[in-house]
Amino acid sequence: MLLTVINSIDMLVFEKTKLLQEKIAAIKGIKKIGFIPTMGALHKGHLSLIQEAKKNNSIIVVSIFVNPTQFDNKEDLSNYPKTLENDLKLLRSVGCDIAFTPSAKEIYPTKIVSQHFHFDGLENEMEGKHRKGHFDGVGTIVKRLFEIVKPDNAYFGEKDFQQLQIIKKLVLKNRIPVQIVGCKIFREKDGLAMSSRNTRLTKKHRLAAPFIYQTLQKAKEKFKTESISKINFWVAQQFKEHALLELEYFTIADEKTLKESFRKRKQKNYRAFIVVFAGKIRLIDNIEL
Ligand code: PAF
Repeated sequence: MLLTVINSIDMLVFEKTKLLQEKIAAIKGIKKIGFIPTMGALHKGHLSLIQEAKKNNSIIVVSIFVNPTQFDNKEDLSNYPKTLENDLKLLRSVGCDIAFTPSAKEIYPTKIVSQHFHFDGLENEMEGKHRKGHFDGVGTIVKRLFEIVKPDNAYFGEKDFQQLQIIKKLVLKNRIPVQIVGCKIFREKDGLAMSSRNTRLTKKHRLAAPFIYQTLQKAKEKFKTESISKINFWVAQQFKEHALLELEYFTIADEKTLKESFRKRKQKNYRAFIVVFAGKIRLIDNIEL
């Protein structure tokens, strides 16, 4: 009865964990649940995850929660775009079934702190070095959301490739029965990877930002013939000469371990990872090599 109701009425919006859990209990095992956790400020990249989820699930759940414990920078947290009304409108327009919009109290009933995780060293590379505690925060919220939503499949973009690998590890180590699906990076026409943070770019920084992906594409081309150290040097030079974009790091790493590579080995798959400041906005991107 409930299932036909869910299929025929408008999207359900839950703020309370308990009420969502009751709905999930009625669906679980009967309908496949596809889940997309988000921090809101939804864009076409998020919507593409929903489209992907729709292929293999009959109930789509999207959470919107700006998770405080994954921010290492208070200013970044308070400036994170919040566009709930528009987000819900967008979710309705693409046929999302359930939106979960909890308050911090619902997620962290006693204290806003993260659990500490070991992800076999994945957490110590790249973003782990630059954003202290970030992956403990991500692990805490994703584990909690999985416990509440109990999805069959959960969808994450490859833009945050390190996060994607860490979530796969989280699921494996904690034996959480969910399939993690990685989805290709969704880009603007000019190549800039879609991100909620893009809306905070000034006009001149927005115009400059496609240079990041252009550099990644050239680095990929160079990877066919040049050494990693030469490519690292070349990328650093590109940004030294750039008036608006400041390179935080560029790393070529083994896709599995995420450890920085200095030599190419035939059996391994590599990816180039980049973080750039466009004014105050931190932009992240990567490319398969
Ligand atoms: O990628 C994000 O938007 C967030 O890190 C996530 C997975 C929703 C957890 O807060």
